[in-house]
Amino acid sequence: MRHFSFLKFIYCFSIAFLIAFSKIALGGDAEAGKIRYAQNCGNCHGPAGMGLASYPKISGKEIPYIIERLKTYRSGKKIGSNSALMIMMAKTLTDEEIANLAEYLKDAKYEN
Ligand code: HEC
Repeated sequence: MRHFSFLKFIYCFSIAFLIAFSKIALGGDAEAGKIRYAQNCGNCHGPAGMGLASYPKISGKEIPYIIERLKTYRSGKKIGSNSALMIMMAKTLTDEEIANLAEYLKDAKYEN
């Protein structure tokens, strides 16, 4: 049954490929998110998204919540009274950067 095992091999290979691919397509990369966060998000939201003065805490939130907020700002829609700042910040974010940021922020903790 050489033919059968070959099909099985193709089948397993496809599954492995799909899992690997969906991880790239759907799951964010927390390490990349951390680097992106450090570029300018931290200026307002503080270290590791802990919040600073009137800027909201954004760490420890569910991934879909952060993604939805950032996409809303990116589309130019207001959420709170200070959305103008975030709309400006979110304009240049790609889907991938948003996914990475959400993945990072979920477990981001401030350590000194
Ligand atoms: C210039 C200051 C500033 C910078 C820089 C900034 N933000 Fe914000 N962010 C704000 C303000 C102010 C709000 C609240 C906006 C509102 O009233 O809708 C906010 C809101 C948010 C929210 C929604 C919080 C919630 O629970 O509603 C998220 C998520 C967020 N920011 C992520 C980011 C990320 C990621 C970056 C970096 C790409 C970033 N911010 C950079 C000021 C900033």
